[in-house]
Amino acid sequence: MTSLGNKIVFITGATSGIGKSCAYAFAKEGAHLIISARRISLINEIAEGIRKTYNVKVHAFELDVRNKNKVLSAVNSLPEEWKPIDILINNAGLAKGLNKFYEDDPENWDEMIDTNVKGLLYVTHAILPGMIERKSGHIINIGSIAGHEAYPKGAVYCATKHAVDAITRSLRMDTVDKNIKVSTIDPGLVETNFSRIRFGGDDEKAKNVYKGLTPLTGDDVADAVIYCASRPAHMNVSEITLLASRQANATVVHRE
Ligand SMILES: NC(=O)c1ccc[n+]([C@@H]2O[C@H](COP(=O)([O-])OP(=O)(O)OC[C@H]3O[C@@H](n4cnc5c(N)ncnc54)[C@H](OP(=O)(O)O)[C@@H]3O)[C@@H](O)[C@H]2O)c1
Repeated sequence: MTSLGNKIVFITGATSGIGKSCAYAFAKEGAHLIISARRISLINEIAEGIRKTYNVKVHAFELDVRNKNKVLSAVNSLPEEWKPIDILINNAGLAKGLNKFYEDDPENWDEMIDTNVKGLLYVTHAILPGMIERKSGHIINIGSIAGHEAYPKGAVYCATKHAVDAITRSLRMDTVDKNIKVSTIDPGLVETNFSRIRFGGDDEKAKNVYKGLTPLTGDDVADAVIYCASRPAHMNVSEITLLASRQANATVVHRE
């Protein structure tokens, strides 16, 4: 096992759910964190909470991963001590709407594609050159089982996560001679803010997604991320798929 102590870990979308759980989990292992998201007051609050609980350094800032220029300037203007990023967790992402394709709003598509695909590309493209130069790094993408199978009313969200899967596989080939690991963690149902965002703040609809079963938590996913990040140097966990035990795949769920 590789110690995560004193590693520098960059996490996108760390204000909620899986990203926030990852931030706490890496801090518990003694890693120093660069955390970002759009909600600046929340990211600062989380940074403060982590600093108080764990003896680690946290650098927090506002970042919308959809903004190519801001992503690049945020990474390039990191203070020197924060530049040698060891691990990147590409977590920022969302689903917007759950509608038949022909009834869906193209605005939703733009937001999902811009965040889940283009945002992930911009952040990776900004951070990867440093990893290549240092001949060391690990990129962990938060994919989804929606990247393995399509489901009804999810054409574009599923397409974005299929894209994440393709990018992960291709990037692994491109960096195989650079001592850089590329991995994906692909969860099924995780109870976070995800469904609330998908349904535009409708709590009732969001709750129904997890009704009659015990979903995964952000901490369950963070556990898998930590496992992946802490393997010995000679081992790469290319992919982990996580399901709630009452979920068989993207469409078959047993509710009691
Ligand atoms: N929950 C599930 O069932 C599930 C299953 C499989 C995969 N996933 C994936 O897991 C990842 C995290 O989702 P979650 O379930 O933890 O949902 P969540 O609780 O809603 O968290 C999403 C995070 O992404 C950030 N974010 C959204 N748009 C952003 C943007 N443009 N720029 C920067 N940050 C942005 C949000 O922060 P701000 O709003 O502050 O920017 C928030 O911190 C996503 O990639 C999602 O697709 C989720």
